[in-house]
Amino acid sequence: MKTVAKKILRILAWTFGILVVVVLAVGGYVKIFLPSVGPAPDLKVEATPARIERGRYLATNVMGCVGCHTLNDPSKKYARQTGAGGERWELPMGVFYSANITPTGVGDYTDGELYRALTCGVTKDGRALFPIMPYDLIGQCDPEDVKSLIAYMRTLAPAGEKWPEPDLKFPFNLVVNTIPARAQPKPKPSPEQEIAYGEYLVNAGVCTHCHTPRETDLPHDSVFLAGGNDFDLHNGKIVRSANITPHPTSGIGKWTKEYFISRFKACDSLSYEQIKAMNTVMPWSIFSGMTDQDLGAIYAYLRTLPPVNKPIQKYPEVNAIAGGN
Ligand code: HEC
Ligand code: HEC
Repeated sequence: MKTVAKKILRILAWTFGILVVVVLAVGGYVKIFLPSVGPAPDLKVEATPARIERGRYLATNVMGCVGCHTLNDPSKKYARQTGAGGERWELPMGVFYSANITPTGVGDYTDGELYRALTCGVTKDGRALFPIMPYDLIGQCDPEDVKSLIAYMRTLAPAGEKWPEPDLKFPFNLVVNTIPARAQPKPKPSPEQEIAYGEYLVNAGVCTHCHTPRETDLPHDSVFLAGGNDFDLHNGKIVRSANITPHPTSGIGKWTKEYFISRFKACDSLSYEQIKAMNTVMPWSIFSGMTDQDLGAIYAYLRTLPPVNKPIQKYPEVNAIAGGN
């Protein structure tokens, strides 16, 4: 009897020991060898006026860079200093800041290092960026557009300061290293190919990060852009992302192209207070600066999606989720 118990104990001890070794080996691998996306490309971006202008348009009105990397709150120290960053996010997985993307923050990056940061999510020093930074989607953009973003970033006036690196809790401090991947760029379709061009803009505009439900095993066609993610408005309320598939009642199936464009244009040149009063995280005022042609292409593409019958209550009567984003 005694020897059997001893045997079992010994097996358990070995199993536990092996488990600890495996966990340490995997953890060590993830910590030391990841992210692994290869060296930064050897690249020199020529800052032509056309590139700078294209980069400004993308960063300000399409891709939301300026939205995340500029403080809009007039009560804050570096408010309205374009690209100075410093927005502090506190989520259950840890604390992080929107980076300073003016020369004060990334002036020591080579063009190739910036290219890798934007498209693969790895800093100059090889650290994985927190994936709220949409590098997965920027990595699918046309390399020419990424170069335009770099040309534009170089024109920003130095401002603010360098912000602390994220302070992530276990296991997110390890998981974050597994996310960066080599970019898979796609060429930008010509605006005449309206639907393909609209699809390109929906990717660049990061619509999916907010409008496609997170963490779901459901098939792509039953969730893509069907809404339902909650965002804490930090005023006791939450807002839920809308269903923007062409379903006639749950989505925007009844919207005409003119109405779609006008909903964005109505938010042109709103003040900080007016934006705040809208109680939303939808970047209406950023997108309001998109051309009618680009907004029209987004509409045309959205019309081609499978309509998903999933009604969304945009302002649910629940208490704000603790620490949501
Ligand atoms: C949803 C918010 C968001 C959007 C949109 C966004 N970023 Fe970021 N970005 C971040 C955050 C947060 C970080 C810092 C992450 C970290 O330090 O781990 C970051 C990091 C960066 C960095 C790395 C800076 C450094 O110090 O290494 C660069 C460069 C950058 N962003 C540029 C851009 C550009 C250009 C765009 C638009 C194409 C963009 N970002 C869009 C939130 C955003
Ligand atoms: C930061 C998150 C976020 C991003 C990015 C975002 N949205 Fe939204 N969007 C929301 C939320 C939340 C709502 C619901 C509240 C509201 O109507 O303002 C919304 C509402 C909308 C509506 C209104 C739908 C209705 O039924 O009234 C449209 C249209 C829309 N988004 C389109 C887009 C498109 C197109 C993109 C990308 C180019 C995009 N959104 C990017 C969060 C986002």
